[in-house]
Amino acid sequence: MTVPGIAAEKRVAALAAADLVEDGMRVGLGTGTTVAELVPALGRRRPAITCVATSPATAELAVAQGLDVRPFSDIDRLDLAIDGADQVDPAGWLVKGGGGAHTRERIVAAAADRFVVIVSSDKPVDRLHAPVPLELLAFGLAATLHALPGTTRRDAPPTPDGGILADFHGDVADPARLAEWLDSVPGVVSHGLFPPSMVSTVLVARGSEVEVRQIA
Ligand code: A5P
Repeated sequence: MTVPGIAAEKRVAALAAADLVEDGMRVGLGTGTTVAELVPALGRRRPAITCVATSPATAELAVAQGLDVRPFSDIDRLDLAIDGADQVDPAGWLVKGGGGAHTRERIVAAAADRFVVIVSSDKPVDRLHAPVPLELLAFGLAATLHALPGTTRRDAPPTPDGGILADFHGDVADPARLAEWLDSVPGVVSHGLFPPSMVSTVLVARGSEVEVRQIA
């Protein structure tokens, strides 16, 4: 359950991010409750933008708000991507994927000239902690889980791309090393550790104020 102050902060961060959107931009829309505040804000302003969405839920919401949502198949670059996060550490490492959309979120963030992360004040942490969401290939699933000690399959339907959601519950003290290891395991489609090099800016809402953290 989202507490009222946190829900309000998600709106504050989302509105600050909506101010960054300009006519003519190709914009990537993330997934989650914070982005669910961003999309109506864009819908009210109706900028002349082209959007791609990281989940069917976001696509549906954006279309309902009158935004021009395109499939992410023929668009090679985005001007801006905006998304939430589950954790943000002081260096700008993120944990994402609480909603299971991290594979598409990673592709969209990587394709954007600027990736702006919008979070409420409960998301910044001193050190990242488990769980780290994973998306695994269905083929060889048991073998992949065997290769990932401390990982449990999530009780969730397959992703829109047919992936199996799981969560790594081990040590996250060294995110760069963990990301490298997860990347090396065949069968891991993607993980929820996003490096600071992918992140342009983090907007942290604290009450009605927004703290701007420039990362990369
Ligand atoms: C979706 O898979 C996630 O990466 C979300 O971006 C993240 O869980 C943040 O969600 P909220 O905006 O709902 O807190």
